[in-house]
Amino acid sequence: MRTIIIAANWKMNKSIEEAHRFALEVHESCKDKEIPGLVPIIAPAYPYLGLLTDVAKNCALEIAAQDVSAHLEGAFTGEVSAAMLASMDIKYAIVGHSERRQYHHESNELIREKLAALQYYGLTPILCIGESLNERDAGSTYKVLEAQLEGCLRGINIHAPQDLIIAYEPVWAIGTGRTATGEQAQEAHAFIRSWLGKNFSTKLAKSISIIYGGSVNPKNLAGLLAMADIDGGLIGGASLVFENYRQMIHIALEKLGVVHD
Ligand code: PGA
Repeated sequence: MRTIIIAANWKMNKSIEEAHRFALEVHESCKDKEIPGLVPIIAPAYPYLGLLTDVAKNCALEIAAQDVSAHLEGAFTGEVSAAMLASMDIKYAIVGHSERRQYHHESNELIREKLAALQYYGLTPILCIGESLNERDAGSTYKVLEAQLEGCLRGINIHAPQDLIIAYEPVWAIGTGRTATGEQAQEAHAFIRSWLGKNFSTKLAKSISIIYGGSVNPKNLAGLLAMADIDGGLIGGASLVFENYRQMIHIALEKLGVVHD
């Protein structure tokens, strides 16, 4: 069975006090060092990574960066390298989020360089891909996903599930309250998994977690997780409230059969 990932993408939200309190509450609610089959993740803004990594020690919570530099080190003002993240014991980083693609003009080629930097330092990338509404309406969803997968993963070595997590995030569903239906998301996830099978191996494709993002909340998560190829969520707005995050972890545990309602 593939690992379920419940990842909170806080984007540019929360004061340090709010971030700290939230992480302490998660720590309090999941004191286990590991939860077999589930990885709960929080991706806070860069300045909070150190504090939250300390809180997450000795519990199952993992901390992720929301981005990483494509450069390994040097004169790149404002950038944070994969080496810096690795030195803080951070194991995950989001790359290629549609907000980075849209507002910072990130290309598939740049994202590929970021993936290579993360790979070099042993971090797991959470690679975001997804089509815009125009692209979906034009019937080119698969063409767009394929171009993103090819552009971002060309030459990247993937041997094990910890080498890559893919987040399918249709741009039209992000922050809009308009979630893809379970069936729409499932179709895209199955397409991504079959692409991985063709370009890497079927065995690897079966083991990689593909998570869905775009207006996920405690009400729709169970329906999404019921789909064969949906292995969790990358959650923005709904993840800012601790009670929502707690409920979504609970829903994932129910799916794993660890807890019952
Ligand atoms: P949302 O954001 O849950 O607020 O739609 C998801 C994301 O952008 O990762």
